[in-house]
Amino acid sequence: MLRQDYLNGYDADAIHQRAARVIRDGKRLSQEALETYRAWFDQKCAGSKAAVEEAKRFIPGGIQHNLALNHPFPLDIVRADGPYLCDIDGNQYIDLLNAGGVTILGNNYPPIREAVVRMMEDTGYLTGLYHEYERKLAEKICSCYPSCDKFRMLGSGTEAVMVALRLARAFTGKDQIVKLKGCYDGWSDHIVYDVRTVNTKASFASGIPADTLKNTSAVMINDPEALERRFIENEAKGGTAAFIMEPIGQDSGGVPVRLGYHQEVRRLCDKYGVLLIMDEVVTGFRLGMGGAQETFGVPADITVFGKIIAGGFASAGGVGARDEIMALITPGVSHTAGRTIMLGGTLSANPVSCVAGYTALCELERTRAHEKLETAAEQFARDLTDLANRYEIPAIITHQGSIMQIDVTGFKHIATFREYSEAEIAALRAEGGKRMNEFAMALAAEGVIVAAGNKTFLNLQTIGVLQDALAAYERVFRQMI
Ligand SMILES: Cc1ncc(COP(=O)(O)O)c(C=O)c1O
Repeated sequence: MLRQDYLNGYDADAIHQRAARVIRDGKRLSQEALETYRAWFDQKCAGSKAAVEEAKRFIPGGIQHNLALNHPFPLDIVRADGPYLCDIDGNQYIDLLNAGGVTILGNNYPPIREAVVRMMEDTGYLTGLYHEYERKLAEKICSCYPSCDKFRMLGSGTEAVMVALRLARAFTGKDQIVKLKGCYDGWSDHIVYDVRTVNTKASFASGIPADTLKNTSAVMINDPEALERRFIENEAKGGTAAFIMEPIGQDSGGVPVRLGYHQEVRRLCDKYGVLLIMDEVVTGFRLGMGGAQETFGVPADITVFGKIIAGGFASAGGVGARDEIMALITPGVSHTAGRTIMLGGTLSANPVSCVAGYTALCELERTRAHEKLETAAEQFARDLTDLANRYEIPAIITHQGSIMQIDVTGFKHIATFREYSEAEIAALRAEGGKRMNEFAMALAAEGVIVAAGNKTFLNLQTIGVLQDALAAYERVFRQMI
């Protein structure tokens, strides 16, 4: 269970102030260090480089996943075991990426692997029909989330967001959706708004007709007045169906939520008849068994799940809500004419994903993983802060449970400073993005892999190797000027 004294307790305003300094005075790797690291990659990761070049013949950019966009080139991972990832060239890395937050129990975690093998031996990997682990997983999720009477499994977090929005619109009869600026809620048409397209400066993707986004808008985090103004403006457009938020703030807490904001959001949603969708794709079963809702004490109307709920397997997505909302989901439900929503998914809730997810959730409880991770993350954040101070490196180092932000660029905060013009924001972002990639490259060469240079996840197995990770950070910090 997370402790209240740190929750929002590292106060969002202080972080904002720190971000101003990091953006202004942040340090970067020396030219010499950059050249050494680039040479390291060329010499030590030649196999990865060749493999990805070959893959480029058949895969756009050579990779199938945004997270694999390592700098200076993607790594070809051949083994994931416990706290480590090993590449084709025999290099070993401490895994602080956790596949984007999924592998909370460690890589190739034996109890999950064994449960999956047993499932394949006993049942097979796919039937297309009902099996008991669908119920076991759904029951487990609902027992952890009091706001969910029922749960429906889907193909991914993105699909789950699509369904959550559709449910909210069908339930309320309204069209408008409000989200938080910069939050990533997957990549479906209606929600790719105010999110940068990976590796570009575009604020949302092309290929989406402007009309599609006419019912979506975004408000700044930590500003309940702005949210209320938007709800009022939307009344003239028929009203707001839902407000969707990442409950720990933009991009897994890069810009964290201010104390009391959740309560204000809940109050405003109730006042204007708006459904509150919490996108718990990252926070669900990561912050604790009851996710962000338990942590912050604020229930959602619709919860979006992903990642951990399938234990590292596919079909990592789902929605949960109270009965009256979930009654709009077919099949097997006695329909309220005209209000039920359309959804599907050939592989959703396949036996392997369900047994893997169920085992993961049981193992999280059995091992008391959240408590251990919380303690480890707190210590790691403290140690890193001491280290950054010792090397006089301005940095934003925070953790919400085992979700950490270790940011030496202030990248995610740039757009929250109203004094910057759009052009300045674009320039700062380009510069910050470059420095973030360089930082991630240096860390990888020193033996630690993180997500996008600042987002960092701990898993149960990495707890034992955090001193090694700390030493790697120190070797990088030492070379920043
Ligand atoms: C908060 C959040 N919502 C939704 C998604 C989309 O989930 P998926 O990648 O499973 O489609 C992600 C993915 O990282 C996420 O972080």
